[in-house]
Amino acid sequence: MDAATTDIPALERDLLARIDQAGDEQALEMLRVEALGKQGLVSGMMRMLGAMSPDERQRMGPLLNGLKDRVGEAITVKKAALAEAALEAQLRASAVDVSLPGPRAYPGAIHPISWVMEEIAAIFADMGFVLEEGPDIETDFNNFTALNFPPKHPARDMHDTFFLAPDVSGERKVLRTHTSPVQVRTMLKQEPPIRMICQGRTFRKDSDATHTPMFHQTEGLVIDKTSTMADLKGVLMGFVKAYFEVDDVVVRFRPHHFPFTEPSAEMDVRCDRSGGVLKIGQGQDWLEILGCGMVHPNVIANCGLDPNEWQGYAFGMGVDRLAGLKYGMPDLRDYFSGDVRWLKHYGFSPFLLPGLAQGL
Ligand code: PHE
Repeated sequence: MDAATTDIPALERDLLARIDQAGDEQALEMLRVEALGKQGLVSGMMRMLGAMSPDERQRMGPLLNGLKDRVGEAITVKKAALAEAALEAQLRASAVDVSLPGPRAYPGAIHPISWVMEEIAAIFADMGFVLEEGPDIETDFNNFTALNFPPKHPARDMHDTFFLAPDVSGERKVLRTHTSPVQVRTMLKQEPPIRMICQGRTFRKDSDATHTPMFHQTEGLVIDKTSTMADLKGVLMGFVKAYFEVDDVVVRFRPHHFPFTEPSAEMDVRCDRSGGVLKIGQGQDWLEILGCGMVHPNVIANCGLDPNEWQGYAFGMGVDRLAGLKYGMPDLRDYFSGDVRWLKHYGFSPFLLPGLAQGL
């Protein structure tokens, strides 16, 4: 193309119109090559500048440069517009209508242990017990010493304790072997009267159908000036009736030993195992369900209270076992196997919560 005889404004109009009409990035790129590429129209005309007379060059130079700039600018602008349109189209094509019904997914379930802990908390809350908490990793003092286990005494082995490696100060923490250290924590931080329960994980080296190395307990503690073994019995019978949803229960207290209670007892409930089904409350058999007693004066003193002024009772029960008895789950190891089929069968709806008003 001869630069000197070309109608440059007409060429520019033509190029700009075609750029404007380019339908996609590929068409636009072809146009760019055609106009501004090494072999392109504009580049070809620019090359001819060298052969022109100085006058001609002075006239044509700015014209061609202006043409090149405006065509280049138009291409850049169009390219951005096309990219945006392409993205827009892609997004539209992959859009999800969140108002459409989804596939029927398994909504998950509340684990029976979590459920039963809610039930237990609801029952004791109804009897005026406050929920306290403590950590899984405990000091030897809270787990043993304050609870009247003498130092270095073999009673500490009775719990098949998991000891942690000694820390820099030589202290060996333990995975709490029971929830009783929360009694200690509560007495140390709070003025009596105390009326609390605590629930959570506990750990002992033990594993068979009725023991898992990690299990759950509920602890109860009452400290005031007047509470007795008779109050303990009333509270526990109220609990058993509400938990097993029976009106009449017969219980017995068997003398036992715990370092932290005196006197100590284990509580059994009457049950009936005839016909392969377990019925709680009445019958010929006994079922042991918890340990309890009057808080030992040494424990009260170890927690900074005067045992001549304060007294009370405590109890502790295995949640896993209570859950198994109520909902017919015989092997505790299944609880923690993570088998979704088991959870589908024994789990509870996440849309419900146990409460005494609507029944447990
Ligand atoms: N801590 C005891 C245990 O784990 C249970 C218990 C708690 C007994 C409170 C008496 C009083 O076996």
